[in-house]
Amino acid sequence: MDLHEKKYNPKFSWSKEQSEVNNELDLVIEEIHRNGFSIIPNFLEQTDVKIIRDKIEGIYTTQVNECGGEDKLYEIGDQHNAKALIAYDRYFDRFLNNSYIFEIIKYFLGDYFILHQQNGIIHRPESANPTHPWHRDLVYQHITTSRPIGITTLFSISDFNVETGATMALPGSHLHEIMPSQEFTIKNQISMCAPAGSLLILNSMMFHRGGHNISNETRYSLNQVFTLPFIRQQISYPNLLQDVFHDNPDMQRLLGFNCETEESVKSSRMNKINKVRPFQGWKLER
Ligand SMILES: [Fe+2]
Repeated sequence: MDLHEKKYNPKFSWSKEQSEVNNELDLVIEEIHRNGFSIIPNFLEQTDVKIIRDKIEGIYTTQVNECGGEDKLYEIGDQHNAKALIAYDRYFDRFLNNSYIFEIIKYFLGDYFILHQQNGIIHRPESANPTHPWHRDLVYQHITTSRPIGITTLFSISDFNVETGATMALPGSHLHEIMPSQEFTIKNQISMCAPAGSLLILNSMMFHRGGHNISNETRYSLNQVFTLPFIRQQISYPNLLQDVFHDNPDMQRLLGFNCETEESVKSSRMNKINKVRPFQGWKLER
């Protein structure tokens, strides 16, 4: 190294302590830790993207009809959201069983986590959407925890850009109990732009919101939230899917079959005795 190189090739930092990453996964994890989110572009095949879009629209139409029309959903502020996709189409199993996603979730939540929600969100052009206000996916929780309690996997099923209303993030907001001022939020918000088929992984406690779609195209996303099992599901996946996964203990566990509230003291004990619910505790000494 000549004198010129020495002069213009300075140390990376003056820090004595610095984290290190060994691969892409480490970097994703570090981003989620520090910023609250990471974007993995082009995670899905484009053929799947088209299929998912059509299926979200189909399931939403079914759910609109279940409730007596879209006006009813507007009345309760629940429009443009196809919920519990897996209960309407088993095609959506595959997004729960992805080993890469599992590796990241396990890093943050440990071995036992459950599906909290799996929704298809439809952002029609120039239309109000319940995801537009800033929120945490564990809504109305103004707390921090020493470890994450929820991880959100958000797939962009359309191009996320400024025109289509890419989801906005407030980096680092999972690290603070309350939401910052409107002024701070507007100054520090960023658009999570990503091509269709990308995966956005969020700490579920990071504040974010759906952007306003000012394009001519509907923007779609597939949203899955995984949580520690003590957090109650908004919709009971065990109720919806009890007949479907009776021979699949791994899926039962993931869908929350093993952490439903027991009906009685007796049923709580009998379910353990009959091994309906696994108990990995102590053995009675005799
Ligand atoms: Fe959200």
